[in-house]
Amino acid sequence: MTKPVRPILWIPGPTEVRPEILAECSRPMIGHRSKAMTVLQERLDPHLKLAFGLADGSDASVAVHTCAGTGLMESSLLGVGPRVLCVVNGSFSKRFHEIAVALGKQAVKLSAPMGSQVPFAQIEQALSQQGPFDALTIVSNETSTGVRTPLSELAALTRKFRETMVLVDFVSYIAGAPIDFDEHGFDFGFAGIQKALALPPGLTVACASRRYLEQAKTRQSRGFYLDPVKVFAGHAERATMATPAISLYYALAQELEDISAGVTLPASQKGKTGRAAWQARFDEHTRMQQVTEAWAASNGLELLPAPALRSTTISCIQAGDLDVPAFLAAIKARGHELGNGYGDLKDKTFRIGHMGDHTESRLAEMLQLADDAIAEVRGARARS
Ligand SMILES: Cc1ncc(COP(=O)(O)O)c(C=O)c1O
Repeated sequence: MTKPVRPILWIPGPTEVRPEILAECSRPMIGHRSKAMTVLQERLDPHLKLAFGLADGSDASVAVHTCAGTGLMESSLLGVGPRVLCVVNGSFSKRFHEIAVALGKQAVKLSAPMGSQVPFAQIEQALSQQGPFDALTIVSNETSTGVRTPLSELAALTRKFRETMVLVDFVSYIAGAPIDFDEHGFDFGFAGIQKALALPPGLTVACASRRYLEQAKTRQSRGFYLDPVKVFAGHAERATMATPAISLYYALAQELEDISAGVTLPASQKGKTGRAAWQARFDEHTRMQQVTEAWAASNGLELLPAPALRSTTISCIQAGDLDVPAFLAAIKARGHELGNGYGDLKDKTFRIGHMGDHTESRLAEMLQLADDAIAEVRGARARS
C-alpha cells in the first residue's frame, strides 16, 4: 500500500469519504426553492426508507435537516411530553439526558458504567415503577465506548409500554447495521451522515412514526429551527424552512443511490441491489468487527464491551500495556489515523471506526500496518 499524502481515516467519525462523493459537493449551486432541488430531495426518500429499514406500506416519515446530529437529538425531545426516561451508558447518551434537562423535562436518568449497557430488567423496572413516561431516550451505538444496544431486546421491552415514545440515536449505527424501525416500534430515529454513511458532516437524517408526529403537533413550545413538525413537513413538502446545505444533499443522494445499487460493496458481493445490497453492507460491517476483534486478541488486547454488546461499526479497545499516543502516532506515520479514547477513556482505550465505505480487505491491510506500529511501540518501551 503506498503511503497517502494524508492519513486514511479510521476514526469514529467523520469517516473516509470517497473522492467521487466529495466531487458531488462541488456541483454548481441551485436555488433551494427550485424544481432541481425538489428533484434532488425526491432522490433521497426511497433509500432513506431502506437505511431506516421501514416496512413496506409503512406510515413512518423520513426527513433530512441541515444540522449536526445533536440538533435532531434536541428536536426529538421537542415533540414529546415532560416525563422522559434517559438511558445513559456513555458520552452521547449523557448528552441526550443533558438536552432533556436543558429543555426543562422531568428527566429520570438510568446510568451504566462506560463500556456496558443498562440492563433491560432495570429499564423495565423504571418504566413500570416510575412511569408512565412520555418518552425514553437511548443511543443505539455509543461511539464513545463501542457499545451496541441489541435493538430486538430493546423493542421487546418498549412494546410493553406503548404510552412511551421511543427516541433512538442512530448516529454511528445507521448504514452499519439493520434498524428495522417499524418492526421494532420506534418513534423517532436520527443520525448524522458523517459515520457509517461515509459523508462529510452537516446533515442529519431522521425517521418518525405517525403517532410521534401526530402527538408532536398537539404540543406547544416546539421551538422553531428544530421543531420536529416543521422539519418533517419541510422535507415532505420539499420546502425546507431555511436554506439547506445543498452541496451535501448532492453527496447524500449519490451515496445512498450507490449503497442501494451495491456500488460500494466488495467484489464478492457485487450485483446485489436494494434491500439485499443494504444487508450486504451490514454483513461487511459485521465481518470488519470480527476481523478487528481477532486482530486485537492476536496482539493481547481486549475490547472494552462484553461480546454481546460489541458494535459492528466501532471497536473500542483497551490499551493494556500499549502506549496509546505513541501507537496512534506510529500508525499515523504509516498513513492511517485511528481514534483515541473519548473523554475519560482517552489514552486508556483507542477506537477503530471500521465503517462506512471501508471494506474487510482494506481493514486487513491497515491492521497489518497496525501490527508493525504496535511492535515498534512495544519494542521502544522494552529498550527504554
Ligand atoms: C452516538 C452519537 N450521538 C450523537 C453525536 C453527536 O453528533 P454531532 O457531532 O453530529 O452533533 C455523536 C457524534 O459523534 C455520536 O457519536
